[in-house]
Amino acid sequence: MTKTAVITGVNGQDGSYLAELLLNRGYGVVGLYRRSSSNNFDRLKNVMGHSRLILNEFDLTDPSDVTDTIIKYRPDEFYNLAAQSHVATSFKQPTTTFEIDSIGVINILEAIRKFSGTTRFYQASTSEMFGRNYSINHNGEKYQDEQTSLMPQSPYAVAKLASHRMVQIYRDAYKLYATSGILFNHEGPRRGVNFVTRKITSYIGQLVNNLITKDTKLKLGNLNASRDWGHAQDYVYAMYLMLQQDVADDFVISSGKAYTVRDFVDKAFKLVDLDYNDYVVIDPEFYRPAEVDYLKGDCSKAKKVLGWEPKISFDQLVQDMVSSDIELYKIR
Ligand code: NAP
Ligand code: GDD
Repeated sequence: MTKTAVITGVNGQDGSYLAELLLNRGYGVVGLYRRSSSNNFDRLKNVMGHSRLILNEFDLTDPSDVTDTIIKYRPDEFYNLAAQSHVATSFKQPTTTFEIDSIGVINILEAIRKFSGTTRFYQASTSEMFGRNYSINHNGEKYQDEQTSLMPQSPYAVAKLASHRMVQIYRDAYKLYATSGILFNHEGPRRGVNFVTRKITSYIGQLVNNLITKDTKLKLGNLNASRDWGHAQDYVYAMYLMLQQDVADDFVISSGKAYTVRDFVDKAFKLVDLDYNDYVVIDPEFYRPAEVDYLKGDCSKAKKVLGWEPKISFDQLVQDMVSSDIELYKIR
């Protein structure tokens, strides 16, 4: 029988890749998007019109909308990917961020608990919850895994930590199949343009296609932060696997390698034979009130239990994003 999966934030980066994956596996997918005056389904162009895809307006912060959706579909699987996902924005909009990223998750958990107890729930938790904290292995290397204590450094991370704990509580107290993926940064050609990787590659795409010149500088903030960057296509497969286990649990999903923002920008510019120093300027506007300096995940548990590991390397990720943005701006 066809399984039904609900995806919130279906027109976000991850939602679009996950919709493709589940449709390819024969699921009926209910994709939920937030209404706006200029709805954008560009990321869904590969699946628009698919006979097993339903698209509905939905707002996570509205309890009756959430309840009605659960009652209407009583889905086999529910992937909550909707969020105010931009860390810097969360410092400017802490209340909105908390309403979406925390209260919104409680709305779903309550609706599942009351009306659809067999629905398997996936929550998009984040490595940002580790904040400044890390563990140290026997070689003296810093890393984060499921045992590392969470020390959030942004309103976004605090909101995500609250929902992360709620998922654990609903799993333990009410025996719901509720799981959180603690995903490290993952990117790709569909990444929003205000995240640093895509900001860099979309600048390169415009530069290479002569839509801007060297006089239009690329303004960035902290180049010294390290991130563990993977490809979103690999990471949505881990989400799917997490809901196929006998027992619900939380998993770190990461590449296990850390690079600085400077490494990313250097590599991206070198791919088009340019030196980033000629184009990048530091603008304090892009510094954050509090920064997370170092993220590098150890996903041994996911490898062992889920049989998951990343397939797309850092070099391939940067190449994919640069090539894709060069193509994108060619046709404009
Ligand atoms: P994204 O591209 O920003 O997508 C988020 C989606 O959520 C957007 O479609 C957005 O709609 C929607 N949304 C926001 N507020 C909503 C609301 N009140 N009701 C319904 N929908 C709402 O994020 P992503 O990169 O795909 O990430 C997916 C999830 O994983 C997020 O929860 C994020 O916090 C988490 N995460 C991401 C990463 C990463 O590196 N990408 C790592 C760890 C965790 P609009 O387009 O209208 O804003
Ligand atoms: N966005 C942005 N813009 N970041 C910049 C810039 C800039 O101009 N210049 C430097 N950075 C630095 C940030 O200070 C941060 O250290 C790093 O680049 C990455 O920033 P983002 O790409 O915005 O991602 P993030 O790490 O803050 O958050 C992403 O990953 C989290 C998982 O760790 C988001 O996808 C979150 O939703 C996700 O939870």
